[in-house]
Amino acid sequence: MAVAVVIGAQWGDEGKGKVVDYYASKADFIARYCGGANAGHTIVLNGKKFKFNLMPSGALYPDKVNVIGNGCVIDPKRLLEEIEMVKKEGHEPLLVISGRAHVIMPYHFELDGAEEERKGPLAAGTTRRGIGPCYSDKASRFGIRVADLLSEKTLSGRLTKLHELKVKQLSIYGKNFGQTYEQVLEQYLAYGKKLAPYIGDGTQTLAQGVAKKKNVLLEGAQGAMLDIDHGLYPYGTSSNTTAGGACTGTGIGPTKIDEVVGVVKVYTSRVGSGPLPTELFDAVGNGIRDRGEEYGTVTRRPRRIGWLDLVTLRYSAWVNGLTGLAFTRLDTLAGEQEVKICTHYELDGTKIDYMPQTPEEFARCKPVYISMKGWKAMPEPEWKALAKRGYSSLPKEAREYIEFVSKSLSVPIYVVGVGPGREDTIVLKHVFAK
Ligand code: IMP
Repeated sequence: MAVAVVIGAQWGDEGKGKVVDYYASKADFIARYCGGANAGHTIVLNGKKFKFNLMPSGALYPDKVNVIGNGCVIDPKRLLEEIEMVKKEGHEPLLVISGRAHVIMPYHFELDGAEEERKGPLAAGTTRRGIGPCYSDKASRFGIRVADLLSEKTLSGRLTKLHELKVKQLSIYGKNFGQTYEQVLEQYLAYGKKLAPYIGDGTQTLAQGVAKKKNVLLEGAQGAMLDIDHGLYPYGTSSNTTAGGACTGTGIGPTKIDEVVGVVKVYTSRVGSGPLPTELFDAVGNGIRDRGEEYGTVTRRPRRIGWLDLVTLRYSAWVNGLTGLAFTRLDTLAGEQEVKICTHYELDGTKIDYMPQTPEEFARCKPVYISMKGWKAMPEPEWKALAKRGYSSLPKEAREYIEFVSKSLSVPIYVVGVGPGREDTIVLKHVFAK
């Protein structure tokens, strides 16, 4: 039995879905602990693609318990669509939505856009899924929680003042909120009725799983550098995406966590704005974007591409307490003569090996690189054959590259991904022994 957390160690889109999917086969419980429909993962089952924003990665297994933890923010409309997708595959999802999770309301979407416009250069380039405004309401204790959708008395009581306030708030931004209090109430009570069979106590559900010594997988969303506390504020998201968030966002205490696996793409990618010291604006960056089809799953925006940044990774290894690394996209980086890794920054003429606290300083950081020999490009079947043969058959240069990173972070390699499929994964250590 084990409790394992899988997090994105960089800026999101590291390929967590693939690693989680692999580990999920041996998990009994799979829980999401942060974010909402700003995340996106694709699961391929029997050649069919499923795009989920909210459902945990075990949704398509009929025998695994999926929990949406209290740390998440839920768009009920989107979640109901995803439940229908699973039902169409012939089974009821085994889903528990924490009654403590917060609900994205229609005014949150509107506010997300209005606030972004107002922020000018400080805009994070959000996914416009209402994430920030929903977490703001949670923090100011104005929020509506999933359990509130089950009682007309409770919901109407919460919404009366709130609706009036949100109409006023939006009018400050010059926006007219088009839905009446009655419309919102009716719509969200209807969502509550439909979600009722799945609403439960996520904390209790997981506590029982841990007590019975089951395998529990806590699935991160976004990436460490987008964390509200530890990320590049204000250019990140509004939740704790780091491993600590797995505890607060599910109700599992820190002493119960056995493994924290950080997923690391072997280069950097980022959607949204804010400084990115190793960003590439040349043919190398464009080539990686094209080969890796690096476009946002939720927004379809082209992702910004850069060399691997060891400074932010060192920081990430520390704030997440990483016990293992899962490297992804070795196939995408293949074909470069030379690959670079940023080991330090130069900030105002001084060499530093840590991430500065302010975005202004971060923007002035100039990357200091080491250069390594690249590895050759190969057609997909060759990578698949390599994956089958195991770690030692990987190109020597690729092994040297990831071993350098692993050694620099003092964190062992658990997984290496050389393609999009489950069979393109080399697992050196599984987080669940059985
Ligand atoms: P929000 O989470 O929609 O408020 O967006 C805040 C910032 O986080 C923006 O820069 C987004 O592009 C980024 N972001 C949010 N979710 C993801 C994700 O799942 N992957 C990568 N970036 C994300």
